[in-house]
Amino acid sequence: MRCSITLAVMVAAGAPVLQAQGKFPPDSFTNLKVLPKTIGKQELLATMRGFALGLGVRCTYCHVGREGAPLDSVKFAADDKRTKRVARVMMDMVKHINEEHLADVPERPEPHVVVKCETCHRGVARPRLLADEIVLYLADSGLAAAVRRYRDLRGRYYGSEAYDFRELPLVELARTEARAGRSDNAIGLLQLSAEFFPNSGMTPAARGDVYLEKGDTARALASYREALAKDSTMGMARARIQQLNARPRPGP
Ligand code: HEC
Ligand code: HEC
Repeated sequence: MRCSITLAVMVAAGAPVLQAQGKFPPDSFTNLKVLPKTIGKQELLATMRGFALGLGVRCTYCHVGREGAPLDSVKFAADDKRTKRVARVMMDMVKHINEEHLADVPERPEPHVVVKCETCHRGVARPRLLADEIVLYLADSGLAAAVRRYRDLRGRYYGSEAYDFRELPLVELARTEARAGRSDNAIGLLQLSAEFFPNSGMTPAARGDVYLEKGDTARALASYREALAKDSTMGMARARIQQLNARPRPGP
């Protein structure tokens, strides 16, 4: 984030440094349509820095200029980039949410929760939930591509607040796929889950349910046993094992 870092340093120094050549920050802002025209430099720049951090992008995601180029070469007033125009819509939306919709919340507890860009964006430009992202890949490009996407996102965002990489959402997604009749997707997602959560009983228990629904009682039994071996508190897996063992087996 070169431009924001430069900015951070400048803001921290609180100083009109680097004013020798071009001009950053500019003397006046010439194209403000949402922010108050009287906004101070520091406040505008802090707002911009908030946008960049909130979306996990650099200044040039919205402004015309080369990434990493000196800030005085960026055409901040230009509206050429779609993303800058989207940002205006977003600023207006956030204002409406905070000032109108949330003002109508009955007996609203204090202090108020204020919606900001990162409330939705959490460090990504298009704030899609992880499960929705994976469903999109499953539908458009299939299981292998979806699994690659998951790994890629996990590699880039694990530890940030962008996506929820815990076991439960992945297992729930697998269950949703199974309910929709796509048991191959479900098994594939559970395989991925088993890789990241090798010691948990939740994933093999869900796999057991998927196999049971498919009528594969042998694999279902093995999965429930695995779940119970990993987590002896898995009462549901224990109950299923008992039910399956009590069933009359089909004759030879
Ligand atoms: C998510 C998009 C987005 C990002 C990222 C962003 N900006 Fe902006 N910027 C805007 C929008 C939108 C406006 C116009 C606001 C308005 O119309 O009131 C603006 C306006 C400005 C202006 C005033 C231009 C003028 O003269 O009217 C400056 C200066 C500026 N941004 C600097 C920055 C800097 C520096 C960064 C990086 C730290 C940055 N911006 C990151 C969207 C963005
Ligand atoms: C209530 C949730 C929410 C808030 C708050 C929010 N956004 Fe968004 N934003 C979205 C959603 C959803 C999208 C994706 C819209 C789409 O393309 O389907 C989006 C898309 C964008 C995009 C376009 C990204 C792209 O590459 O297409 C920009 C830029 C953006 N938001 C900037 C902002 C800024 C700046 C703020 C704070 C002033 C903000 N957003 C606040 C929900 C939000």
